[in-house]
Amino acid sequence: MTRRLSAWLEGVYAGEFIEDERAGSITFLYDDNAPQTPISLSLPRDGAATRKAAGRFLGNLLPDRQAAREWMKSVTHAASTGTFDLLAAVGGDLAGGLVLPPGDETPEAAIGDLDPAEDDAIAFRIRTLHLDTDRWYDSAEPARFSLAGSQPKFALADIDGDWYWSNAAIPSTHIVKPAANVNVGAEEAEVAAIALAGLVGIAAPRASILTIAGEQAYIVERFDRVTGADSIARRVHVEDMAQALGKDTSEKYDVTARQVIELLAAHDADLRSGYDFVRQMAFNSAIGNADAHAKNYSVLLRPGSISLAPIYDSLPTRLWPSYDQTLAMRVSGADFSQEVSIDHWAKLARTSGLDQDRVVEEVRVIYQAVADRADTAWADLPDDQPARMRDLIREQTGKIAR
Ligand SMILES: Nc1ncnc2c1ncn2[C@@H]1O[C@H](COP(=O)(O)OP(=O)(O)O)[C@@H](O)[C@H]1O
Ligand SMILES: [Mg+2]
Repeated sequence: MTRRLSAWLEGVYAGEFIEDERAGSITFLYDDNAPQTPISLSLPRDGAATRKAAGRFLGNLLPDRQAAREWMKSVTHAASTGTFDLLAAVGGDLAGGLVLPPGDETPEAAIGDLDPAEDDAIAFRIRTLHLDTDRWYDSAEPARFSLAGSQPKFALADIDGDWYWSNAAIPSTHIVKPAANVNVGAEEAEVAAIALAGLVGIAAPRASILTIAGEQAYIVERFDRVTGADSIARRVHVEDMAQALGKDTSEKYDVTARQVIELLAAHDADLRSGYDFVRQMAFNSAIGNADAHAKNYSVLLRPGSISLAPIYDSLPTRLWPSYDQTLAMRVSGADFSQEVSIDHWAKLARTSGLDQDRVVEEVRVIYQAVADRADTAWADLPDDQPARMRDLIREQTGKIAR
């Protein structure tokens, strides 16, 4: 038996994912009139995709943890936790420009369902997620979205200052990510890190702490949405590096910096996105973020061009000893942020085809800017964390900042 899931990209019909259950395969077939932008760099318009790319691309739109997928299945009454079944239920609001409406529906079919998200309902979602990280949905709420990652989260649409649950016709504009209670200070630290990234010259979305009906959570504006004159957001296509490289979610820690840079170079003649990627990597290393794996970097796809997406999910994991502090992407063999020297960055440039002098200069600027703000950037963190950050930053940037 074959099943189909139609795909709309930035509002235009793009083609369909086809699952052949007997063969156990998923493929994507572009429509003749599909937009010029590819669904993924791993699914080029000329059809030269690797065998597993389409199925992996879809899987990467879902939460990383199986327990969150199980919860999604039980709340949505999906037939299984397979990617096709889950996305048929939640494919209304996804990362990037895609909408996967059920059956033959068009994304506009959902326009009638403008569902206000009441303060109490938002606060209830936050309270629940602080305690149970896999309960991404609530059966009482109409929200049908999906995002990747292992932290709990949900999406909201801001329309003229009021919150609504998102759907295929109402794209979310914000992501709310309540941190697990055990990671004290994680929300403040992510706000601080994203703000600092912006200050040191890295493209960064606006993030803050949402306070609503007595609850608090990290909230960030989506960089894959632009709001039009009618106050309703439009989707802009992006994909993460696991998707772009045709990797499975489970391989997110196996992707190397060199693989990412070489992929970007193949699609970006002036290599701008490659240098931007190294600058984000350098920022993550300078602040002590070991968890910057392939799904924490994304690429914006435009007709005929690409660029690196703004930074996200950047926080100093070294503050919490329970995190594995091995760098998710090593810097030329350096495994820990405090080991990384300028020679490691120079070698990464040499081995991945970037200009060594330019990388050394750009990396130094980032490290220096992070070091210069070590006393101020983390001031809103609780307890002794500002002082610990000062020490950690000194250790991580000492070898590189001038
Ligand atoms: N500001 C943003 N704009 C658009 N997409 C985002 C933004 N932040 C995160 N995402 C998307 O949501 C996914 C999950 O967010 P992330 O912060 O990485 O969560 P987690 O901490 O669970 O990994 C990301 O992989 C990315 O696709
Ligand atoms: Mg993430």
